[in-house]
Amino acid sequence: MLKLIIIAGARPNFMKIAPIVAAAKRRPAEFQLTVVHTGQHYDAAMSDAFFRDLNLPEPDVYLGVGSGSHAVQTAAVIKAFEPVVLKEKPDWVVVVGDVNSTLACALVCAKLNIKVAHVEAGLRSRDRSMPEEINRLLTDQIADLLLTPSPDADANLRAEGIPESRICFVGNVMIDSLLKQLQRARDSTILNQLDLNERDYAVLTLHRPSNVDEQNAFARILDALAAIGARLPVIFPAHPRTRKMIDELGLARRVEGISNLRLIEPIGYLDFLRLMSGARLVLTDSGGIQEETTVLGIPCITLRENTERPITVEMGTNTIAGTDPNKIVESADRALNNPPDKSRLQAPEFWDGQSADRILDALLAPRIVN
Ligand code: UD1
Repeated sequence: MLKLIIIAGARPNFMKIAPIVAAAKRRPAEFQLTVVHTGQHYDAAMSDAFFRDLNLPEPDVYLGVGSGSHAVQTAAVIKAFEPVVLKEKPDWVVVVGDVNSTLACALVCAKLNIKVAHVEAGLRSRDRSMPEEINRLLTDQIADLLLTPSPDADANLRAEGIPESRICFVGNVMIDSLLKQLQRARDSTILNQLDLNERDYAVLTLHRPSNVDEQNAFARILDALAAIGARLPVIFPAHPRTRKMIDELGLARRVEGISNLRLIEPIGYLDFLRLMSGARLVLTDSGGIQEETTVLGIPCITLRENTERPITVEMGTNTIAGTDPNKIVESADRALNNPPDKSRLQAPEFWDGQSADRILDALLAPRIVN
């Protein structure tokens, strides 16, 4: 029996831990699991709604660290998590993704000689101005087992000199959640609530500091949204940080002035899945949404200069448009004028709903850890 602690901190972690938690509960003879929520995200809409939609049990341990600067938040998780590890003495700690909680918990374990497995290892944007890129690089350096979602991630790790014995390709566990919940998401009433017709609207998400923390960058994206909004309604469930920045940067009137841009509160997993799968186009700076649209076959315009998920571009659904308004509008026009042929839809290898069990199998497998 392996004793595991699994960590979730922020919204994009919840859909990654849910399938692993469910798989461990199906295998009680092999795994005993403790779920730790760091409290990096704490609003009902950013956290509780996801636990409910994903059928996640209440966390066993809630660290309640909340928001803060990167240093303050990371340090708060480190300080709060160490006593949990000392008390539980797990065989493995499983961290997912690239948020501050991921790195903080991996670092605690590395110093205590507790084994860490990193789910979604090896992704690289090669843009060190992104806080997530720093979290990815450092977590992969100190984790014992690097569980990768796609072959490009394996190649990145090898190129950094990480020994083969630490790398294991398991596929994309977030897609386990998507495939499992798609049927339930069809019952969502979000399209009716927002008075939308299937394939007649675009969905936008925006929260990266590089896009929303600086007035000029944000304003340029708004210019592009005004042009796209002339073709179809753009539904914008706004992250709390984005909403705050709209006010702080004095952009509220500009946002209100784009009549077809509809700012709404953040929505839960099932409603978002429904909204995204019915959309004609998705515009985003999120990493996970680039992957979800690949599996759903929805054109995605990524409002960043780079991606750590190049496989989504290779599969043909994702376009890296950057933040130049002309390029964004051109990419959106191209996607709207050439709807994808869904009969040719293909998912990358191991994005098949079985990654959680591959992750658990990898934890059980004896391996030489250098
Ligand atoms: C974090 C992750 C990012 C991920 C994003 C998804 C890091 C470095 N960043 O960014 O990779 O894509 O989550 O959402 O870990 N806030 C609330 N309520 C909450 C949480 C946050 O109002 O429940 C507000 C606070 O004002 C906070 C701000 O959002 O200061 C930013 O939160 P934070 O956790 O620092 O980073 P995110 O931008 O959410």
